[in-house]
Amino acid sequence: MNRQYQIAIDGPAAAGKSTVAKMAAQRLGAFYVNTGEMYRTIALACLEKNIDVKEHPEELAAVLPQWEMSFGDNGNGGIAITFNGRPIAPQQLHTPQVASIVSYVAKIPEVRSWMLQRQRDCKRLGTIIMEGRDICTVVLPDATAKFFITATPMERARRRLAQPGEVAQGATVESVAAEIAERDRIDSTREVAPLKPAPDATTIVTDGLTAEQVTDKVVEIFNQKKAECE
Ligand code: CDP
Repeated sequence: MNRQYQIAIDGPAAAGKSTVAKMAAQRLGAFYVNTGEMYRTIALACLEKNIDVKEHPEELAAVLPQWEMSFGDNGNGGIAITFNGRPIAPQQLHTPQVASIVSYVAKIPEVRSWMLQRQRDCKRLGTIIMEGRDICTVVLPDATAKFFITATPMERARRRLAQPGEVAQGATVESVAAEIAERDRIDSTREVAPLKPAPDATTIVTDGLTAEQVTDKVVEIFNQKKAECE
């Protein structure tokens, strides 16, 4: 039986993790797992059910045990999320409304422990590339290769502005930079599983690099690590 591997990628908002993880997954024949979309699904459910996660996180913690989320193969190298029996489309998750509350959802300890086992279960899908904020540090600490992918705040704001769906109408590079800085602040100062580079992760600053160049680096380092453990 072929051995299965895990590649873990963390980094701040709009650093280009998803693009690179998707490209690397295609090249390696691996499965791409975007954990941000899992937190975004819970944020969407809070919007739909009028749960105010900023003021009343305890309301979400109370209903969460009755909720169910599962992940299957989306037929395109990534995961398809089913939430309480309903398929969730990525376009529903990349909206200004979801982006504005998702970090409040993700800082709730009950949400993080609810996610953890479900995310680790994704190993059953085969060789995976999983990206998020705490993948190297908490979810897959034994991953074969670990990366921290980042870029300067202005570069990240420019990339986010160019992405359809995510930013509000009339947004400017400055307003987007402020929004992602606020999300990064919440993500990196929370008590449970804050965003930070794992000591054994390779940091890649992607300013001035194309997605292909970053992917080349990820694939090269993974192949080296894989050879070392064979
Ligand atoms: O696409 P972008 O980089 O803006 O964010 P994302 O990867 O979709 O993640 C959205 C939010 O989910 C993050 O800002 C975190 O608050 C949360 N998240 C997390 O806490 N832990 C993860 N492993 C992944 C996402």
